[in-house]
Formats: sequence, C-alpha cells, structure tokens
Amino acid sequence: MSAVLYPYPGAENAPAYEQLNRCTDPEQKVEACLRAIAPWGGRTVLDIGAGSGFHTVRFAATAQRVWALEPDQRLVQQVEQRLARQPAGNVAILQAGAEAMPLTDASVDWVHARFAYFFGTDACLPGLTEVHRVLRPGGNFFVIDVNPGVGEYARIVCRAYPDIFYANYQRDHEAFFARHGFRCHAVSTVFRAPDRAALEAVFRMDFPHCWRELADTVTTLELTYGISVYHWRKDCRVMVPASSSTAVRAAARAHWPRRCSARRNSHCCT
Ligand SMILES: C[S@@+](CC[C@H](N)C(=O)[O-])C[C@H]1O[C@@H](n2cnc3c(N)ncnc32)[C@H](O)[C@@H]1O
Repeated sequence: MSAVLYPYPGAENAPAYEQLNRCTDPEQKVEACLRAIAPWGGRTVLDIGAGSGFHTVRFAATAQRVWALEPDQRLVQQVEQRLARQPAGNVAILQAGAEAMPLTDASVDWVHARFAYFFGTDACLPGLTEVHRVLRPGGNFFVIDVNPGVGEYARIVCRAYPDIFYANYQRDHEAFFARHGFRCHAVSTVFRAPDRAALEAVFRMDFPHCWRELADTVTTLELTYGISVYHWRKDCRVMVPASSSTAVRAAARAHWPRRCSARRNSHCCT
C-alpha cells in the first residue's frame, strides 16, 4: 500500500515546531510512562511520524539503533538538520509512511508514534499491520495521543479542530485501541511556554485559522494537558475487529493472527 501523507504545519515552520516540542510535557512525563512500561535502552527503536526528530534523538541516547520514519521531505530535512546539530550515529532516516515501511520482518523491538493522529481509526489498519510485521515477538508499540477531555491545552486543541476532536473522540479511540488489544494509560502533564511570544508562536503555527481568538482566552504560560498512552505488546494474538471493512480485514489478516489467546482487549485507564 502506498503512503498517505497527513500534512503537519510544523513542516513549514521549524522554529515554532521546536518551541512546541519544548513546551509540551517539559518534565517528560510521557517518556517516564513509556520507560516504566517498557524501557528502550539497548533496543532497536522505530519512531513513526518522527517529525523533526525531537523525540528520535532522545531515544537514540540509550537505544542501540533508531529508525526515524517520516514521509514528508521537509520534515526529513529537519531531522537531518537536527542530526547535524545533535550528532547521533545510531539514527537512520527512512522517508516513508506507516502504511509501507522499508523494514524487514521482526527487525524492531520498540515502536513509538507520537501525535501521529492518523492512528485510532480503521484508516490506520495498514499501519498497525505493518507495525505487527516489523516488531519482534515480545516487542512493544506505543501510540501517544491528545486526550481531548482532560486539561486546558487539550480543550484548546479541541476548540481549534472540532471536526477532528469531536465530542466522542476519546471514547471512540479508547474503544478502537481496546479492540486491538492495547492498554490505555492516562498521563497528566502540562504545556508550559517560557514567555508570551513563544506561546503565540506555537498557537499561530498549530491553529493558524483561529490562533488569536484562542490565545486571547489564555492568561497564563502553563496549561494542564491530558495525554493518552496506548500500549500494545506483541505477546498476544489480536483479532481483527468485525467492524473493519472486508478488504481491510483481509489485508490485515495477512499479518494479524486470528485469535487472541489471552488478555484480548485487556484495557484499563490508569
Ligand atoms: C503531529 S506530527 C508529530 C511529529 C512527531 N512525532 C512529534 O511528536 O514531534 C505528525 C507526523 O506524522 C507524519 N506523517 C504524516 N503522514 C504519515 C504517514 N502516512 N505515516 C507516518 N507518518 C506520517 C507527519 O509528516 C508528521 O511528522
């Protein structure tokens, strides 16, 4: 299957995108959650939708090797520029999408997809199938997403994109991931800007159509932010859900075995 490019505005504004990553979860609570579940030290890591590589190089500090998978040429260049500033000899860039990864079967231990908002509906089944293919048995897969119901920053994201973060987004996404055998962990963190100019630069990039209106509602530099960490371990067989279209199910079955022998849909939000 050919890659579908879901464009991201950070591709056209590297400084504001960097600021956004610095402001988001500054105490790295998401990373702490991932580490507590499955540490990546000494592992082969795959960062899907790596963006500018902000998280990629953090993983590279202790991983054995890191693949930065990114389809957008402009963001590939941002990763290259980062690697020139922050050399990491164990990082390699793959310009490709989640739907067709140029990696061999069972070659990766640990997969990360952060704010890769295209994960969470049946449209991402080809990507899930690819993750299943490239992960070694016992490997771990994490999808990190906004929890639109929790926190001031998440609520701003919802106001900016009501069609994406619709009323039942969280319920539907939790149900989707549960059907696929993921567990959901809730992380409470913050968005913290160093000053008003930084906050406005981030808002202008991420919410170009309504940034002024949204920025005017914010009177502090720190906003609470709920994030969902969905985790799946390749130690259990997962059933392709009956709700998938026949064609997608047939494609997915090629890689997703039929029955879950244990803990199917084991799902909890902590
Ligand atoms: C919201 S950005 C997040 C980037 C990065 N993970 C971060 O946290 O900074 C989503 C990323 O997914 C990438 N992307 C778009 N379509 C994709 C696809 N089909 N497969 C993999 N990544 C894709 C975008 O180019 C962008 O880099």
